[in-house]
Amino acid sequence: MEKVKIIDTQVSITKNDRINEHFYILGVSRPDPFDAFAGQFVNIQIEPDSLNPLLRRPFSIFYLDKYEIGILYQVKGEGTKILSTKKVGSTLKLLGPLGNHFPELKKSGDDIAVYYKKESISNNISCIEMKKLKKAVFIAGGVGIAPLIYYAKKIKELDFNIQNILIHGCKNNQYFLPEDYTKYLFDIKFFSQEVELENSFNSSISGKDFIYDGNVIDLLNNNNVEKYIHDDDRKTLYLVCGPDPMIKAFIKWNLNYGYDAYLSLESFMGCGFNVCLGCAIPRSDGGYLYVCKDGPIVHYTTISI
Ligand SMILES: Cc1cc2nc3c(=O)[nH]c(=O)nc-3n(C[C@H](O)[C@H](O)[C@H](O)COP(=O)(O)OP(=O)(O)OC[C@H]3O[C@@H](n4cnc5c(N)ncnc54)[C@H](O)[C@@H]3O)c2cc1C
Ligand code: FES
Repeated sequence: MEKVKIIDTQVSITKNDRINEHFYILGVSRPDPFDAFAGQFVNIQIEPDSLNPLLRRPFSIFYLDKYEIGILYQVKGEGTKILSTKKVGSTLKLLGPLGNHFPELKKSGDDIAVYYKKESISNNISCIEMKKLKKAVFIAGGVGIAPLIYYAKKIKELDFNIQNILIHGCKNNQYFLPEDYTKYLFDIKFFSQEVELENSFNSSISGKDFIYDGNVIDLLNNNNVEKYIHDDDRKTLYLVCGPDPMIKAFIKWNLNYGYDAYLSLESFMGCGFNVCLGCAIPRSDGGYLYVCKDGPIVHYTTISI
């Protein structure tokens, strides 16, 4: 894996906008140099001059443009509540980029195709092979859509006829992103909501989009959806990020199909750079992996369910 330089520096807030009932987009000044692959995260000290909250909070990179690092966040507890009150021009401390990333995509010279490197565990043996990519299915639970959007953008930038399909599951439609954030990135979008609300936020979903009442796994098994997401040649890559129960349910679903699937994991993090050992989760081949160092991106065969 290519390396990008990790930096620890003060950044200033360039935007902190509420975009729906639950999500905010934070923009901070992009330090020079700062680069990151899709799937990596940054650790943010929300109050640089105070010990409260003491620990930095990890957030995936949602976008990276010339002058700004973008983060999509949901208010969960103390830290993100304080973050949501921060004004443009105030400062934060940012450490990153941290962790590994989604598979890098490579165009092949003579063959008109895009390839990615598959790294998995089979019978306790690590395997690496180059695989051809035709379609990418992104499965997000709630704010787990953040790292997936960045990767979907990278795929579209390749401009190479790869079909991006989004499946976004949320508690209700007040969590769906406004269409502007997804419209150029996905060819087909499916949304699932577990609770239907009356008089709720209008997400301007139209055309080929499909809204389903139920959870993401029910949606994957729906007749209207199955014909879009399945592929006999297995040239489809699944990218998944969301709450733990959704990730585990997806792994069980995929055991029937065996698609290449990469998961973006979350865990509580003390340090974010492999010192505190607080982010350990069990591996499928025994022992533990550390989400901040061995992840957050792992092949679905890597973790124990
Ligand atoms: C690699 C990684 C990338 C992440 N990317 C994003 C992102 O792009 N956008 C986003 O909104 N959030 C993201 N998170 C989760 C985010 O770090 C937590 O929501 C945040 O730290 C909560 O801080 P808090 O002080 O508001 O809540 P706290 O007061 O610390 O906790 C409030 C509640 O939030 C939940 N929580 C806290 N930390 C985590 C965590 N690490 N994982 C799961 N649940 C947690 C728990 O239920 C807890 O009870 C990411 C986490 C990791 C590990
Ligand atoms: S967060 Fe400290 S080791 Fe991973």
